Amino acid sequence: MKHLGILISGRGSNMLAIASAIREGRLSAADIALVISNVADAPGLERARELGLATAVFDHRGYKREEHDRRMAAALHERSADVICLAGYMRLLSPWFIRQFEGRILNIHPSLLPAFTGLDAQLQALEYGVKHTGCTVHFVDEQLDHGPIIGQTVVSVAPDDTLQSLSERILEAEHSLYISCLQLVVSGNYTIEGRRVVELDTSRKGSVLPGW
Ligand code: GRF
Repeated sequence: MKHLGILISGRGSNMLAIASAIREGRLSAADIALVISNVADAPGLERARELGLATAVFDHRGYKREEHDRRMAAALHERSADVICLAGYMRLLSPWFIRQFEGRILNIHPSLLPAFTGLDAQLQALEYGVKHTGCTVHFVDEQLDHGPIIGQTVVSVAPDDTLQSLSERILEAEHSLYISCLQLVVSGNYTIEGRRVVELDTSRKGSVLPGW
């Protein structure tokens, strides 16, 4: 069983999608240990409380980045969180925090990385005129929107798309992508070769190894 620590700053729809998937048995061998927000009045925090999830607020203001991250890490360790999901967490993590949870921090980004990193990825895609964009779940490393990619979903841009209509379709895709990527990570059924996250072939489990 893996214990998820989910970091949010706002709406929290990805956090809710994860919570629903666990409740409905679409994501197994995982529970939510703690939902942390750096914004006290984040709407997602209230939703998490309504679901009876453990929540904590760590306002970053007045703290150095690493100091803030150390406070969050202490709370996450206290709850035995072993996989960290960034779900609309609008702050960069310190290298210290990333090392604490090395290879166990996931982020979701609303574009097909490496295109359109940073803020307003949906607007960047629309303004660039791409015909296809989407979303990416990746492991977090010390560079912004950069670590090894776990999964991506393509969302086509319609000629009459507005920022709102495109963002809504991407968000819908995000909700299922995050679950399938988390399922893989929680299962531990993958290896990382360079930048490539490679899913292991479970159908070969128990097969006769060469030389046996
Ligand atoms: C999502 O679009 C996600 O890709 C980005 O921030 C947004 C968070 O939305 N990182 P929500 O708070 O999960 O609804």
